[in-house]
Amino acid sequence: MAVPEPDPSSLFDWPIVTEEDEQAIVGVLRRGDMSRKGTTIEFEEAWGKYLGTTHNLGYCNGTAALMAAMWAVGLRRGDEMIAPSYSYWATALQCLNLGATAVFADIDPETLNIDPDDVERRITERTKAITVVHISGYPCDMDRIMAIADRHGLKVIEDNSHAHGALHKGRLTGSIGHVGAMSMMTRKSFSIGEAGMLSTNDRSIWERAIAFGHYARQAESETDPELSRYAGMPLGGFKFRMCQWSSAMGLVQLKHYPRRMAEIDRAMNRFWDQLEGLPGLRAHRPPKGSGLTKGGWYYPVGIYDADALGGLPIEKYIEAVRAEGSPAKPGMTRPMHLHPVFQDADVYGDGKPTSIAFTDRDVRQGAGALPVTERMPGRVVTVPYFKHDDADAIARHADAYRKVIEHADELGDGR
Ligand SMILES: Cc1ncc(COP(=O)(O)O)c(C=O)c1O
Repeated sequence: MAVPEPDPSSLFDWPIVTEEDEQAIVGVLRRGDMSRKGTTIEFEEAWGKYLGTTHNLGYCNGTAALMAAMWAVGLRRGDEMIAPSYSYWATALQCLNLGATAVFADIDPETLNIDPDDVERRITERTKAITVVHISGYPCDMDRIMAIADRHGLKVIEDNSHAHGALHKGRLTGSIGHVGAMSMMTRKSFSIGEAGMLSTNDRSIWERAIAFGHYARQAESETDPELSRYAGMPLGGFKFRMCQWSSAMGLVQLKHYPRRMAEIDRAMNRFWDQLEGLPGLRAHRPPKGSGLTKGGWYYPVGIYDADALGGLPIEKYIEAVRAEGSPAKPGMTRPMHLHPVFQDADVYGDGKPTSIAFTDRDVRQGAGALPVTERMPGRVVTVPYFKHDDADAIARHADAYRKVIEHADELGDGR
């Protein structure tokens, strides 16, 4: 067995919580400050300084931040938003609540990110926005995405939920599109409970986000007379504020994040370096020298190629790695576009599926619409997510992955 003893849980535990976090949270409790905004505003400012965005708004979760971003960039009834289907549902699903709909674009088989060429092919006169996800921390091709958006007059939302701290040619992801929105929930790379953030350099997007779900903050954004008419009630009917336990923890976590993230980056690269060149499994990481980095490496995966291992099914590969003592799991289950929520759910009683309730064409995408995305459930393996650069432990886990590759022919092809 390559990993004979379980590792200390600290090798994988996340977030790293110390007395400093505890004190910060207890401070909020003792002050009775949970639902106020002072600590959240402090955290927003610190986050903006880190990310490079002038306007930042704390949220109760990433789902809410993304929904607010969709409304704030102007998605309305009948509009289309292009998004990847290979993501967590909260990248796209909320747009249905706005009466808009999602048109999914395929992904690139190497980066697993939305394919800019396919994005461009799917633009219609109804398209208002493109939402991209830096999946598993791998930065999207933002140069091409922004160029396409400019050409067609579209807004770009970056779902940065997997990529806190990831670099795209010198800029942090989440700060490059018109607006970034992200989860900061437990176990994300930047992890402070149930929380989210919207970040932008566009004051009007920030003002609209406040009007939509932050009624108690409207006084801060009173420059748009159209919006200030509605002060006192949120236009969306939502109350999206961040709990100050989370913002207090955010201030502490942010101080330590660059150093902790750098250690994860070293550890994960160490793991993949040891598997470089083997058949059947390749790292999901940007090439060295590309100017792209994966930040905190949330949800690290490898891309599996059964054909290179004599047809060994991914399930058998995973089972064998686990038998060697290292965690491995299937990485993706069902693409979003094939889920019945996007196919036939009539959520609001419109007498037709919500995904096409206000569209003038049937945008639903069935099997075969996104060939690369649809192949992925059998091709993605989640690998150990090291939080510390422990060379010996990492070598043992890499051994488990290597050993199974080297003995793939003895495991049979399962056909
Ligand atoms: C890509 C992506 N987008 C959005 C979300 C939603 O964030 P939250 O769970 O904080 O609502 C998540 C994770 O949960 C996610 O992985």
